[in-house]
Amino acid sequence: MPTIDNYAVFGHPISHSKSPLIHHLFAEQTGQQLSYSAHDVPAEVFKAQTDEFFKRGGKGLNCTVPLKELAWEYADHLSDRARISKAVNTLTLQADGGILGDNTDGVGLVNDLTRNHQLELFGKRLLILGAGGATRGIMAPLLACQPSQIMIANRTVSKAETIVSEFTGSNNLSSCNYADLPGQQFDLIINATSASLSNQLPALPDTLLAKSGCCYDLAYSNQPTAFVVWGQTQHAAKSLDGLGMLVEQAAEAFNIWRGIRPDTLPIITLLEQARQTSRLPT
Ligand code: ATR
Repeated sequence: MPTIDNYAVFGHPISHSKSPLIHHLFAEQTGQQLSYSAHDVPAEVFKAQTDEFFKRGGKGLNCTVPLKELAWEYADHLSDRARISKAVNTLTLQADGGILGDNTDGVGLVNDLTRNHQLELFGKRLLILGAGGATRGIMAPLLACQPSQIMIANRTVSKAETIVSEFTGSNNLSSCNYADLPGQQFDLIINATSASLSNQLPALPDTLLAKSGCCYDLAYSNQPTAFVVWGQTQHAAKSLDGLGMLVEQAAEAFNIWRGIRPDTLPIITLLEQARQTSRLPT
């Protein structure tokens, strides 16, 4: 009897995770046989649970908040983009038994921005709010799109400075704190702060978004996030949340594991429809 390959996502909390649904939809679409389950794994037991997962024959593992840095430490080998981001969201069992760590978040974001929403990043002025793990994960793929400028604004400016210093050779990269933002304008503002998770927002000046500029929140929710609402009030051409990025980063992981790239648009459309429905009063 053929065995089914096992995949999973570890995180804490994890009950809200859409990853099992997304990967099962990918498997159905591409005719792949696999199982994918979600597990609540606090940081303290991450190593033991991950050892156990791969010992039991697991083929690949996604890691989400707060485990991405631990997954980076866990991996035997790292892709270039994972090495530089210091965060891993995809672990893969290799033929030699080693575990490869990759980070598909940044490419997921760029694919959502450029393919799904037809946003041009070349020559544009980008502002990233926040300087934590989420920002690290998206830096290299964003820089590869050759924007004219990326500024990282953070409450604790030293963390933004550290990220800037790690991307030496990128002279269009700078850091600041929120108080420095008045007087500046950007074509795309990306919210990578965890403030979004509690629906909060750093104070932002009303002049920050250029005419026809766009906003993108890495977080997603059934209701518009505080940052998506801010973008709407600033008349952003598009004010988007991270649902598309979620599907795109999953597609990249699926491709690493199965060697086939799912068609993401029908899955994003389906999830969009599902959340529209769940927003309706019962
Ligand atoms: P993640 O892995 O999601 O990036 P993180 O590494 O803990 O999480 O980083 C969280 C980011 O959100 C940080 O940039 C944090 O700012 P500080 O470095 O100054 O702590 C930012 N953040 C969290 N809550 C915030 C808030 N209420 N206002 C502004 N920034 C906030």
